[in-house]
Order: sequence, then structure tokens, then C-alpha cells
Amino acid sequence: MNYLSLAAIDHLPTWVNEARKLKSDPLAHKALGTGKTLCLLFFNNSLRTRLSTQKAAMNLGMDTMVMNFGGEGWALEFEDGTIMDQGKAEHIKEAAQVVSQFCDIVAIRAFAGLEDKEKDQAEIVLNGFKKYATVPVVNMESSVGHPLQALADAITIAENQKTVRPKVVLSWAPHPKALPHAVVNSFVEMMRHQEADFVIAHPEGYALDPNITQGVQSTHDQQEALKGADFVYVKNWSSFTDYGAVLNQDPDWMITEEKLGKAFFMHCLPVRRNVVVADAVMDSDRSLTISQANNRTYAAQIVLKKILEEGRS
Ligand code: CP
Repeated sequence: MNYLSLAAIDHLPTWVNEARKLKSDPLAHKALGTGKTLCLLFFNNSLRTRLSTQKAAMNLGMDTMVMNFGGEGWALEFEDGTIMDQGKAEHIKEAAQVVSQFCDIVAIRAFAGLEDKEKDQAEIVLNGFKKYATVPVVNMESSVGHPLQALADAITIAENQKTVRPKVVLSWAPHPKALPHAVVNSFVEMMRHQEADFVIAHPEGYALDPNITQGVQSTHDQQEALKGADFVYVKNWSSFTDYGAVLNQDPDWMITEEKLGKAFFMHCLPVRRNVVVADAVMDSDRSLTISQANNRTYAAQIVLKKILEEGRS
């Protein structure tokens, strides 16, 4: 079993319940991973993913090996049949097989470059490892998705929802840099499995991939969308249509206390204070961001547990 996207989850509420059970007794399955190794390869920076995924593995008794591939690994070639006489020193065919000899599960982080839509959509790094690794592969945020984050978000919503069918708003917010779509793509996919009123608010030019948002309500009116919200998930993303462009930095889209009202605030972190969200929101008891980060451990732990259990059967 790989965990490359939310499609790996057969029934989200069951996974969420199992993750919450792990949270109540994190070391209950410590024997499961004894003698097993998780290898974490980072092509991009991380705080939460790196530490929470290692913590999850340690809770299951696994050993971990971490490599910052971007700075420390050989530059990888992903094309087949290339004459490798330029900057790329190693082919994914060898690299993935070699890494697989050292571990039982390999986890990969490789962001979108945001320059070439087709290349990003092709997920060449993640799919390269999927194709050539001989052990299960876990997505720790790829060009297109961040399914560990979305699973942690589902756990966080379940822990805090007061009604059977909460209103959940995904709102774009300004940011000085072009950011990828992975977090919001997976959040939208996750919300498809939730009983909720779900709406996406974004300025013109920021519609997400229509293959992902098909049938999901969306609006350019943030104020209207926020009315009656129980959870407000805020995130910047760059334009998908005008791929990777920053078309808008309107500070009126920042989330303030007034806008949030009685809703809970969610963000995957890291977040730019007073650009994406006001200090007053971040520092209030309406912010679930620290819980979301904590739940990253149990999202990763349920994924690793299921992979280990499948490998045992
Ligand atoms: N939310 C998240 O993935 O955080 P990091 O980028 O710090 O891992």
C-alpha cells in the first residue's frame, strides 16, 4: 500500500476515529514497527512534516533516516533515455532502488516548481519513486497534494465540530510569494468525504484545478462565504489558470477577528502573521493551528500503521 493521495483512504471517518484512538494511546502499537525503518527524503523545507512523521514512526517503534535531498543528495534525472551529460548525476531508477534497500517505507516531499503546469501535474518525483521504489511510498507533500495534512485537518475538525453538518469555508488570503496548490487541493478532496456545507472563497483568477473542485460551491465574496461559518480554513495559493502567478495581494482578504466571528480558524502553517491572518486571530482560542500541527503525528501514525499491518499480512 502506498499513501500518495486521499484516494488511499477507503473510509475517512474510520481512519479519523482510528487516528484519534492512536492519539489517546500513542505507544499502543510500539511493537508493530520494531526492526523497521522509515526513510524520509526532503526535496524542500519542512518543520511539521519532518518532525511529526518521525514522531509517528517512533511511536510505532520504527527507526527513521532523514535526508535533505535538495541540498545533500545527487541531482536526480527523472527522464528515461536521457543522455546524462549535464547537471544531473544520478537517475531515479538507481536512486529509488538503492533507497529501498535501506528502509521498509520511503516518504517523499517534493513541491511544485510552479513554472510548468504539465510537469507539476505529472508529479515526476513522487511518481518516480512510486515506479522504481520496491517499498511503500508516502507523500509528505507533492506538487499536487498534501494528504497527510488533509488527514490531520479531518481529525482536527472531528475533534472540534459541534454539529453533525458544520459549515466549512476555505478562503484564499494574500501572500507576497507564489505558493503551491497542494494543501488546498487535498483539503478540497478531503471535504468531499465530510458531511458539511463547504464553500471556497477566492478572488477572481484564483479558481483551483476544475478537476478537483468540480461540483464544489465557490464565490468571490469572502464576506458572504464567512456568514455562519463553523470552520474557516485560510490559505494562500497562486493562480492555477495563470499558472504560478501572483495576481492579487489585496490585504482586505486577510482574516481578522471581526471576519472570523465565532468560527474556528485553521491553517496548515507556516503562516505569515498580519498578512494571511491577524495576530489577534492567531493568538485567540479560536485558532486550531497548533492542534492541527499536533494531529499531523496521528495522521502519519495511522498511515504508517496501516502500511506496516498490510506488510505483515
Ligand atoms: N504544514 C506543513 O506541511 O508544515 P511543514 O511545511 O513545516 O512541514
